[in-house]
Amino acid sequence: MALYAIGDLHLHFQAELKARAQLKDRVWRGHEEKLRSFCEETVRPEDTLVLVGDHSWGRTLAECEEDLRYIEALPGRKILLRGNHDMFWDAKKTASLNERFAGRLSFLQNNWYPYRDWAIVGTKGFTFEGPFYLDRRGRVAGWDEEAADHAEKIVSRELERLRASFEAAKAAGRSRFLMFLHYPPTNILEKESGFTEMAEEYGAEQVIYAHSHGEARFHDSIQGPFHGVHYSLVSGDYLRWHPARIL
Ligand SMILES: [Fe+2]
Ligand SMILES: [Fe+2]
Repeated sequence: MALYAIGDLHLHFQAELKARAQLKDRVWRGHEEKLRSFCEETVRPEDTLVLVGDHSWGRTLAECEEDLRYIEALPGRKILLRGNHDMFWDAKKTASLNERFAGRLSFLQNNWYPYRDWAIVGTKGFTFEGPFYLDRRGRVAGWDEEAADHAEKIVSRELERLRASFEAAKAAGRSRFLMFLHYPPTNILEKESGFTEMAEEYGAEQVIYAHSHGEARFHDSIQGPFHGVHYSLVSGDYLRWHPARIL
């Protein structure tokens, strides 16, 4: 039994593809086929595969049907986290998604899933991504205050959702945690954040996140050990479509 994770599949079997990077960058060419074959080589039916958000470009569930069918057909038990592009998934209606896909896909939001001794907890998260203003040397000299205030509100809502996930697992008697976020745990200005603090508060052993794709973004946040927690980035293009072994 093993646990794997990968994020940012950005599937578009039905939806029109508008992302320039995905159209131009070689790493995205045939990525659906590459991921499928790497999963089939490594993930066994008894394993768990966590898809760490940004599953589809579709804006409605109807536009995501083929993308979700593709994910369903991957080997192992599939747990999905919500990404910023997952318009088909209303956070407040996660229970109805879980009902609809029962036995095929599991949606992680305000709930948790067991994996051996661990509880898989998580939420989308959020990080302020600018606009930043740079000085002549390219260093950050300031940022849009209004956008930063707005980001703070989203961060606090996401922290509440994350706490609900931890508390639900705790109430069920779990004390070992693996924490999943779609967004990186810190923005490029931060060394730590509410998300890293919550990971430490509950003693999460690992934090696994995605969202940072394209070479320039791979080192936006923490990787490796920090304050006793291990952090890893699992965006698909960073992993070159090989699912990361978490446990
Ligand atoms: Fe993404
Ligand atoms: Fe994202």
